[in-house]
Amino acid sequence: MRDKKILIGVTGSIAAYKTVHLIRLLKKAGAEVRVIMTPAACEFITPLTLSVVSENPVCIEPFNKADGSWNNHVELGMWADLFLIAPASANTLAKMAHGMGDNFLLTVFLSSRCRVIAAPAMDLDMWNHPSSKSNLKILQDRGVIILEPATGSLASGLEGTGRMQEPDIIFDSVNNLFGTVSILKGKKALVTAGPTYEAIDPVRYIGNRSSGKMGFAIAEALAAAGADVVLVAGPAHLETPYGVTRIDVVSASEMRTAVKKYSSRSRLIVMAAAIADYRPVKASALKIKKSGNLQEIRLEPTDDILEGLGADKTKGQFLVGFALETDHELPNAIQKLKKKNLDLIVLNSLNDKGAGFGFDTNKVTLIDKKGKTETFGLATKKEIAFRLVKKISSLIT
Ligand code: CTP
Repeated sequence: MRDKKILIGVTGSIAAYKTVHLIRLLKKAGAEVRVIMTPAACEFITPLTLSVVSENPVCIEPFNKADGSWNNHVELGMWADLFLIAPASANTLAKMAHGMGDNFLLTVFLSSRCRVIAAPAMDLDMWNHPSSKSNLKILQDRGVIILEPATGSLASGLEGTGRMQEPDIIFDSVNNLFGTVSILKGKKALVTAGPTYEAIDPVRYIGNRSSGKMGFAIAEALAAAGADVVLVAGPAHLETPYGVTRIDVVSASEMRTAVKKYSSRSRLIVMAAAIADYRPVKASALKIKKSGNLQEIRLEPTDDILEGLGADKTKGQFLVGFALETDHELPNAIQKLKKKNLDLIVLNSLNDKGAGFGFDTNKVTLIDKKGKTETFGLATKKEIAFRLVKKISSLIT
């Protein structure tokens, strides 16, 4: 964080009061901070407060009304290593998504070349509104990192998702981005995600409940840290994260072929996919009819892709596996780590509430090859992914 130039954008939300603490954390860590406010933000907190904590003048208007001097939005956008918009209101996010420039903050956004992080803050219904969702998607597709809001009591008195993340969490994400960027920048990474489908006949398959969200979030976090990421995805109805090359596959054997193609060039491999352990010995070419009185489907094991990667691991390659367990979680995960020659295993227990398949949140325990464990409490999969990437960047040599 030392000597990093961080431009903070503050928009009209009650969460603006938290930005004071955020700026203090960033300054304490050695960052240089400048602040831009929208006119609406000034209704919630004074420019004077933010000028005092940032130790820099605060920009609000494109020009100074007293002497007509111009605030150069291009120069500010070029100055910053990071543009952090916190809080980001629904209104500002909508304008950012649609290229509007009717205040100084928006013109800086349009002319900035650095990474942009937005920490939304709004009421739960605004957060859940389809227009907010599609605006966020537009921004994410263009590389803006969205720190999803937390759930809890809101200014309206309602309970739900919409609270801006706490300053220490935003600080960690910023730190993470800067910290991991220098280590992972340009490194080739391979990530697998989602389930696999093993055909029974042209209509039916054996599959599992994996949504792919965890693996996609890891690919996104690695790309945000500057890695060159290939994502091999089983059938998952998710958007490709910004900057990631995606290869779609269906079955375990297609996944194995795709992984083999990219594994030897990859410095880092994260196997988050829930790959089938068994497939039908023979998929019927025609639809199996009810009248056929089917009694059984014979299965055969698939290849364990990760075990193969562990056996052929090249010098300097860092291999991360997942273990999804319902019982004897830790011993099972440690056994998998050893058997598959992994550097790190991410343990998911289906006994944890809000964790595992389908949820937007997860709770994981990391175990490295020295047997050191670290548990990340329940958090969004995106947040877990950022923390995991930070951990990997601290272990990879
Ligand atoms: N994996 C793999 N190939 C398979 C099955 C699993 O590469 N055919 C990988 C997964 O991507 C994951 C890890 O192995 O990173 C562990 O998967 P998991 O299903 O938890 O364990 P298994 O080794 O399959 O053992 P079990 O199902 O008996 O628990």
